Amino acid sequence: MNTALIRIEIDGQALDVPNGISVAAAIARAQRPFRRSVSGQVRAPFCGMGICFECRVRIDGIAQQRACMATVREGMQVMTDD
Ligand code: FES
Repeated sequence: MNTALIRIEIDGQALDVPNGISVAAAIARAQRPFRRSVSGQVRAPFCGMGICFECRVRIDGIAQQRACMATVREGMQVMTDD
């Protein structure tokens, strides 16, 4: 893994994160919350391998992306409450 830092945005906040980490790791590293369920419960990554869909976020305008399966890219825009 290339450990150089790249810049992404999470919920509009610019963050420098190590290149090659997952979006879920970047969100956790930034200590940002994940989405809430329709009943208001806080959700967060559970399986970490693309099965549970608990880590869904919007990435570059595309909804329902699994944060645990996506790798950060320079300039990526992530919205967690989606
Ligand atoms: S944590 Fe289960 S799909 Fe991402």
